[in-house]
Amino acid sequence: MTGQPSTPRPTSTDPLVIFMPSGKRGHFAVGTPVLTAARQLGVDLDSVCGGRGICSKCQIQPSFGAFSKHGVTSREDALSPFNAVEQRYDDKRGLKAGRRLGCQATIQGDVVIDVPAESQVHKQVVRKAAAVRDIIMDPATRLYVIDVAEPDMHDPTGDLQRIEKALQDQWNIQHISCAPSLFPRLQTVLRKGKWQVTAALHKTAADATPELIDLFADLPETGLYGLAIDLGSTTIAAHLCSLEDGRVIASSGLMNPQIRFGEDLMSRVSYAMMNPAGAAEMTAAVREALSNLAAEIISDGQVDPALVTEATIVCNPVMHHLLLGIDPTELGQAPFALATSDALNLAASDLAFTGMNPRANIYILPCIAGHVGADAAAVALSEEPHKSNELSLIVDVGTNAEILLGDKTRVLACSSPTGPAFEGAQISSGQRAAPGAIERVHIDPDTKEPRFSVIGCDLWSDEDGFAEAIATTGVTGICGSGIIEAVAEMRLAGLVDAAGLIGSPAQTGTARAVPTGRTHEYLIFDGTEANGPRITVTQGDIRAIQLAKSALYAGARLLMDEIGVDHVDRVVLAGAFGAHISPKHAMILGMIPDAPLDKVTSAGNAAGTGARIALCSLSARAEVEALVHRITKVETAIEPRFQEHFVAANAIPHATAPYPHLPPLPQVSFNSGGRDNGGAGRRRRRAK
Ligand code: FES
Repeated sequence: MTGQPSTPRPTSTDPLVIFMPSGKRGHFAVGTPVLTAARQLGVDLDSVCGGRGICSKCQIQPSFGAFSKHGVTSREDALSPFNAVEQRYDDKRGLKAGRRLGCQATIQGDVVIDVPAESQVHKQVVRKAAAVRDIIMDPATRLYVIDVAEPDMHDPTGDLQRIEKALQDQWNIQHISCAPSLFPRLQTVLRKGKWQVTAALHKTAADATPELIDLFADLPETGLYGLAIDLGSTTIAAHLCSLEDGRVIASSGLMNPQIRFGEDLMSRVSYAMMNPAGAAEMTAAVREALSNLAAEIISDGQVDPALVTEATIVCNPVMHHLLLGIDPTELGQAPFALATSDALNLAASDLAFTGMNPRANIYILPCIAGHVGADAAAVALSEEPHKSNELSLIVDVGTNAEILLGDKTRVLACSSPTGPAFEGAQISSGQRAAPGAIERVHIDPDTKEPRFSVIGCDLWSDEDGFAEAIATTGVTGICGSGIIEAVAEMRLAGLVDAAGLIGSPAQTGTARAVPTGRTHEYLIFDGTEANGPRITVTQGDIRAIQLAKSALYAGARLLMDEIGVDHVDRVVLAGAFGAHISPKHAMILGMIPDAPLDKVTSAGNAAGTGARIALCSLSARAEVEALVHRITKVETAIEPRFQEHFVAANAIPHATAPYPHLPPLPQVSFNSGGRDNGGAGRRRRRAK
């Protein structure tokens, strides 16, 4: 490493240096730079400039006084005085009081040195309140400042070879490869930087040969950035994160433009089957959307696109194939073969991904199986069922529910076709979660009167000021979490029986149960006087919810059978939608198996969190790549017991499974004999 004076061999009479918080200690000769001491002891102290005094990553904080527990007294003159390099940095950028640059301060006496979190290479990034795990920074792309030898007529070597030599001599990096598209830039950058340049090296694994993906004439002081992308069938969400400390700089999302080819995954597979250029059209649409999203978010974050050198993508198998330009037809039929399932490292240009550094590495997490994608792998990485003593059921609720069940001993996964009902589709008054949509519902069990709240307003509908508060949005429909609460509350209030039938006004004692032909609907809100909608829950809506929740439960139950259990210790509801579901209502409905209510939690967008973890950490990538091989896949489509479980789960909450953690539900039955009420439990008459 350059920029640091050579140091004599230390003896036990030399000053004792103790680094905190690691507690690593050693004797060093007077005059040894603190950074050198840290390196020799294996202390985690960052440096991008290799001790040249220009990156400021090596900041340390000496502590002074008597430290009886360490057996040393650290005096004010234990480090060399503030030097000109530190002074220049302090004048330009400002150093926090008491801080020193570890590459400039030299050891003069016994000293205790604190390495602040931001100066550690492997910083621990604490996630938000709902965090299950911390992220340890270990990014795949790093910066290295190098002094490259100038060309010499007598020793003719290429510029790239002298860059390699500089990395060997100054950073002990023995071999590199170079992205071919960087060749045309090398000479200009070297001369612009006057032979001191910053190299961006990317590694696909801890022991892989690094690839030179960019060269900067100056040291990019902000460091590098990456995008964590959750590519869903309906929406695409992305976070722009710092690769220095994992901080989210900007977030954005957009609708997946492939919706115009089909709302759900199977209709997109059909589109590819029916139209010769269908898959290519969908590939082009999603790639363009990703580029637009990248450009927007990078501009929002006011970041130089050249510094965005990484992206991670999580997605389901169909989106995975369409993104890669692979026709997804095989995923539409047994045995649901994936063209490739392992994690992928690609250059941004391979995916026509613009808006960021063209040589940025795109890491696509591995898929678990033909129906269980990289998004489920990301959920596993984020929620870590494989490290838990408790048997955890994790459901990522969407058009397809992805389900994981496991603990330290084994983890199983399946996906279950819940359909779009949980997203408000196929529901008579259903809509996507947007301002004006009913998201919460309570029904008074005595009066059977509803109260509700809508997205964009904190007040309940029976609170003063509600009408004024929703003046701009109105009440427009009911979203997925709203319909779940509505149906569960109807069951709790005795308006719906276990078979899913809505009672008549006479049976329920409320005029809100309105006859509609041979069935009934429950009126939640009537805005017709003001030209607004009339929002009801119809018998058909309940049927759609029963189908969706039965599919979800049956998938979970199949995994429980496989492990041989009747109970799980905890349930995690993941996904943007899962974050809004009330655990109590999900259980009353029988979407999930019985569990103590305080053990049913929401993980928010766990797939997106998994993408962020993989973005920040090479070791997390290695972890998820190993984990997917350990996960046992259960295929719901060919499993005969799935149908059995599905039928039993039609009842609310369930025909046979006990729910001891729920309050007793009303024992009502609205089956009126010969009357065709359209309920879930009705028998179809055979055609004559
Ligand atoms: S190592 Fe870069 S400033 Fe000290």
